[in-house]
Amino acid sequence: MTEPTPAVRDRVRSLPATELPAYVYDLAALREHAAAVRDALPERVELYYAAKANPEPEILTALGPYVDGYEVSSGGELAHVGGAVPGRPLAFGGPGKTPDEVTAALERGVDRFHVESEYELRMLAELARRYAPARRVAVLPRVNLPVPNGALAGSSLAMGGRPAPFGMDPGRAFEVVRSLADGSHPHLELRGVHAHLASGLAAEEQLAVAETVVDWATSLGVRLAEVNVGGGMTVDYARPERRFDWAAYGSGLARLTEAHPELTLRIEPGRALTAYCGWYATEVLDVKHSHGEEFAVVRGGTHHLRTPATKGHDQPCSVLAVESWPHPWPRPAAEGEWITLAGQLCTPKDVLARRVPAPGLRAGDRVVFALAGAYAWNISHHEFLMHPQPGFHFLDTTSV
Ligand SMILES: Cc1ncc(COP(=O)(O)O)c(C=O)c1O
Repeated sequence: MTEPTPAVRDRVRSLPATELPAYVYDLAALREHAAAVRDALPERVELYYAAKANPEPEILTALGPYVDGYEVSSGGELAHVGGAVPGRPLAFGGPGKTPDEVTAALERGVDRFHVESEYELRMLAELARRYAPARRVAVLPRVNLPVPNGALAGSSLAMGGRPAPFGMDPGRAFEVVRSLADGSHPHLELRGVHAHLASGLAAEEQLAVAETVVDWATSLGVRLAEVNVGGGMTVDYARPERRFDWAAYGSGLARLTEAHPELTLRIEPGRALTAYCGWYATEVLDVKHSHGEEFAVVRGGTHHLRTPATKGHDQPCSVLAVESWPHPWPRPAAEGEWITLAGQLCTPKDVLARRVPAPGLRAGDRVVFALAGAYAWNISHHEFLMHPQPGFHFLDTTSV
C-alpha cells in the first residue's frame, strides 16, 4: 500500500464518482523530488528529462528549473515539447527517424542529434547541408556497448549490451565517430557519444554503465566534449519506498567527472523523475467471488494505466473508504483478507493489482494507485472498449 499525498487524497475524496477515474499529479511533490535529484548530482553533470516518460505540458514545465533540457524521441515529441517549453534545449534521439522528422528538427535548431545508425548519419549529413548550412549540427553517435560483470542483468528493459535495434555496435559506432572527427561531414560536428543501455538499474549498476561508456569514449583517441550515459534509473514497484539512490549515483558520477575534467557528462532519466508524482484514482464498482478468490472491478483499468500489464507487476495502491452508499440495492463487500483489483475490460489481462490486502473492500470505496506518473496514461490503449477517458488534475499546493 502506498499513501497518496494529502493534496492528492483531498482531491480524490472531493471528486464525484462520475469524475472518476482520474489522474492526479502533485506538482509540488514533483518539484521537491526533482530538486533533490538535481542537488545529488555534481554541477558538471547535465540532467535532461526523457519526455517519453510523461509529456504532459504541466509536468514538462514543473521540471523546467531543475533540468538542463529535454530528450525527445520522435517528431511528435519534438513539436510537443518544443511548444510546451519553448526555448529549452532539446536532444533528438530514438530509432527510425524519418527525413521529415530530421528536417523539422534541423529547422527548429535542435541542440543535439543522437545518431542511431550509419544510414541515419548519411541522411542527417545531407539534410544538414540543405536545411542548416549556416551552422554545424552537434551529433552524438549512440553506441550499444556490452557492460562487464553482468551489470545489465538486473534490468527490466535492456536495450543494449545484446542484439538490439538501438544504437550501433562499438566497431560501427567507432567508424561513425571517426568519419565525424576527420571532417568527412562538414555540416556536422562530433560533440560526443550517447548510450542508453537499459532501464530499471540500481545506482551501482548505473555507475558501471557510466564508467563503461566513458572508458570506451575516452579510449577512441578522438576529442569529445560530452558523454551522455542515458536514463533507466530504477523505480521499484514492489517496494516503492526504496527509491533510486541518487546520492550514491551522484558521488560516483563526481568521481568520474574529476577523472575526466575535459568531459561534460549527461544523464536522461524519465521514469525515476516523474513516476512518484502521479496517482490514478478510481472507485470500486463491484466485488465478487470466483473459484475461491475475490475480485473488485474498478472504473477504468489498464487501458488507462497499462504499466502493471506491460511490466507484469502489481501497481501499488491504497484504499480510501467511502461510508455513504447512494443506491437502494445492497452494497457488495469483500469477505477475505486479499483481493485482486481488475478493470472494466473484457480481457483477463486487465488486472491492476493482485492479492491486495484490503479486507472489507466495498463497492463505492475509492482506490488510489501510486507510481502512476510515468509510462502510464501515455503508453495505454485508450480506445479499447470506448470507456470514458479519465480526468486530469495537476495540483500545485506551493502556488496557492
Ligand atoms: C534513449 C532513451 N533515453 C532515456 C530513456 C528513459 O528511460 P527511463 O524512463 O527508464 O529513465 C529511454 C527509455 O526508453 C530511452 O530510450
